[in-house]
Amino acid sequence: MTTYITTPIYYVNAMPHIGHAYTTIIADTYARFRRLCGDDVRFQTGTDEHGEKIAQAAEKEGVEPREYADRISALFCQTWPDLDIAPDYFIRTTDADHVKVVQDILQKVYDRGDIYFSEYSGHYCKGCERFLTEKELKEGKCPDHLTVPEEISEQNYFFRMSKYQDWLIEHVESNPEYITPERYRNEVLSFLREPLEDLCISRPCSRLTWGIPLPFDENFVTYVWFDALINYLTGIGYPDGSCFDYWAGAEHVIAKDILKPHAIYWPTMIRAIGLPPYRRLHVHGYWNVDETKMSKSLGNVIRPHDLVEEYGVDTVRYFLLREMSFGRDSSFSTEALEARRDSDLANDVGNLFSRALTMLAKYADSTVPALDKDTVTEEDRVLADALEKMVADYSVAMNSFEFHKALQSIWEVIGMLNRFIVTNAPWELAKDSDQAGRLNTVLYFLADSLRLLALVLRPVMPSAAEKMAAALGLKKELAAAKLDDEGCWGKMQAGTVLHQGEALFPRLGKKKKEQPNKQEKGQGKKAEEQAVAPEVDMEGLITFEQFGEVELRVAEIVTAEKIKKANKLLKLTVKAPEERTLVAGIAKHYSPEELVGKKVIIVANLKPAKLMGITSQGMVLAAKEIDADGNERLVLSTVAGDIAPGSRVA
Ligand code: MSP
Repeated sequence: MTTYITTPIYYVNAMPHIGHAYTTIIADTYARFRRLCGDDVRFQTGTDEHGEKIAQAAEKEGVEPREYADRISALFCQTWPDLDIAPDYFIRTTDADHVKVVQDILQKVYDRGDIYFSEYSGHYCKGCERFLTEKELKEGKCPDHLTVPEEISEQNYFFRMSKYQDWLIEHVESNPEYITPERYRNEVLSFLREPLEDLCISRPCSRLTWGIPLPFDENFVTYVWFDALINYLTGIGYPDGSCFDYWAGAEHVIAKDILKPHAIYWPTMIRAIGLPPYRRLHVHGYWNVDETKMSKSLGNVIRPHDLVEEYGVDTVRYFLLREMSFGRDSSFSTEALEARRDSDLANDVGNLFSRALTMLAKYADSTVPALDKDTVTEEDRVLADALEKMVADYSVAMNSFEFHKALQSIWEVIGMLNRFIVTNAPWELAKDSDQAGRLNTVLYFLADSLRLLALVLRPVMPSAAEKMAAALGLKKELAAAKLDDEGCWGKMQAGTVLHQGEALFPRLGKKKKEQPNKQEKGQGKKAEEQAVAPEVDMEGLITFEQFGEVELRVAEIVTAEKIKKANKLLKLTVKAPEERTLVAGIAKHYSPEELVGKKVIIVANLKPAKLMGITSQGMVLAAKEIDADGNERLVLSTVAGDIAPGSRVA
């Protein structure tokens, strides 16, 4: 099958924010998912650069619109790779081929008699770049931009949209999947119950020159929506380019703000051009921030680049897809993001991978063992069925843009797998040579489950999934895998060599937020979950994430002095990089004088403790040696090269 997935083309009067990022991550995830299903996929995004608000934004900055558009368009283009978004094509409405296609289409529709010249007056909203009907206004204002529209009365060209109203109603009614979720389909049908007005498609050059000139009247430029919507055709080489076959699989993703242009203007335009309708329109809700509308004036705009820098790309993608129920509004908060990172990613899936791979390393020499058929239990069969059901549910949900549901079904299985480890306790099986067959079966089940997880998580978190595939020794195989062939149980080859690899979800961050202590973390969880994903492995191993909770830093000793009545202790003042006081039990091994200027390593996030009435804000690390006579010698841990105080040790 062919799939052509598009995002809206974004106006260049604002910099990319999480709203733009969300739509584009969705389109990218869907593109990757359809490829996983074997489709021939094309994914397009881009920028919308003509019109009044762009001309005004450029004027405000004192530059030509073209120069202004070049700058902001480049910002959008550069943002997407940071988010692991890989469009096949990035279109700009100022591209020469687009200008030509828009003019050719205008001429064609004009020649067919579907464009005419007339007088019009109405309420024009600059924010929406369109006329609003009386009914759309709320207390005389645009409900989206909360501004009073301009009353405009002028002669213009009109597209005979009303002519296609009956056809559109029929098409939407007989194709329940044409516009989804259903609430937006209902909204469109309700709008179509009123007579459709024709669409004003021009602006006189006396009012606006930053647009595409009408081919049949040089005194006018095209209305921005007519220009913008046609991008979906230009990008695939309308009318006869080699990519134009993708049109048969066209699916658009938008948010609710631009429902009307996509669900009403665009289908009628396509009909007038003489093309078949697009396949599906997917409409999502709005991201607010901490329950408030995101806006520049409120200063609460969230930039995707900042989030990626702080949390890593996989966490950002996962959070946005998991948190929002597609079609509904959702509220962004860093607390919610951090909670999902710690619980769903680090604890659930990160822990599962590191524990399973550690056990495969320890008990199978990092090589997938062959399953011993005689030792397969009923519980194993239930797990295998659950894995296959997960793939099926995931496919249905991904295909209908219910990303949160697809992820829920994956996480149910992750929970089962964590329980599977606890109930089968491979470390106990390893102690009994009679259980060697059963141990191999348990390890095989784990390895194959990890393979399936790496497969289904690929569209959502491509970077993490690639690390998973590398750890499983299946980098090439999983990159080429198709869900139909590989999305079933038992495809892991015995003998595959595994690699422990790097941590899947390392804690990143410019500023380290306070982490809840272990007890507090457990309190919010169900008892069942605590048993499934214990903080410390049964064998006393800790995960990389747990290690990451200890904040080790380089500290420079500024002053050192003896403490009265404490012959073992010294009071140190260190720079790390802020100044803090430490009490260290090293007085028998170092004199205060020899310590000043030394760079040592400290635990910087230890809870403060009082020693001899002095509050110690951390701990200095030292190696301890005890000789045959029981004499103790301490040597401070220092750094081998010159490095700034405060540097993180990891
Ligand atoms: N240029 C038009 C679209 C033309 S498409 C032929 C436009 N541009 S826009 O820059 O305003 O982008 C609107 C789109 O950005 C929304 O439909 C949505 O995809 C995304 N979002 C902008 N703000 C958003 C939120 N706060 N939340 C979710 N998505 C949001 O309209």
